[in-house]
Amino acid sequence: MKIIIEKNYSDLSKKAADIIEKEIKNKPNLILGLATGSTPVGTYKELIRRHKEEGLDFAKVTTFNLDEYLGIPHDHINSYHYFMYDNLFKHINIDEDNINIPNGNPENVEEYCKSYDEDIEKQGGIDLQILGIGENGHIAFNEPDDKLYLGTHITDLTESTIRANARFFDSIEEVPKKAITMGLGSIMKAKKILLLANGKNKANIIGKLLKDEVVSTYNPASLLLLHPDVTIILDEESASEYLK
Ligand code: PGA
Repeated sequence: MKIIIEKNYSDLSKKAADIIEKEIKNKPNLILGLATGSTPVGTYKELIRRHKEEGLDFAKVTTFNLDEYLGIPHDHINSYHYFMYDNLFKHINIDEDNINIPNGNPENVEEYCKSYDEDIEKQGGIDLQILGIGENGHIAFNEPDDKLYLGTHITDLTESTIRANARFFDSIEEVPKKAITMGLGSIMKAKKILLLANGKNKANIIGKLLKDEVVSTYNPASLLLLHPDVTIILDEESASEYLK
């Protein structure tokens, strides 16, 4: 596991964009796993800038997003579909046919979840997966529990995740209670993983992840300690407990 500590969020975002750009230049038809949340927004802004000013080309890139709220319309301002178009896709030259985001309104849930994983496999697997981390150690919507699912599945959100995500909604009651998410198995199959964390509120979980050296389903991110190619980029705030 490679740990990179940058001074601040802006430097972290540029470093993450450097890594993504390098991968796209090495393999223009990169299969790129993407995350939502506040953490990658700066990275997406930097990728957009590099596309507009430096011609970074997304024409052949295929993306798979990690998760989506269940039962939320695609055009809802808080859907992850809306988020991805707003924060990245509508600003770059990605082919719409190459965008994959879990459908939050599948007709047949079981079949749909299976097909999402199959679609990833058909593309040859994810080359580079971008991840954020929840304050409780969740990865995508794989919440701490006594067991973790391997494949894409429907999950209940924990109280702490609902509280954390309420900042995007008018009230906490509006936050969906369920989501569709890639499982830890699908994520761990990615050839490379890039985990980003910034801010003081991530310091505890990052300290725990990097210092405890244990794997636990109660800290889903700890499974990443078993992956052969993970890079973690932190800012000084999120690294503070790790460096103590
Ligand atoms: P955040 O969310 O980027 O908004 O902090 C990360 C996560 O919950 O996975």
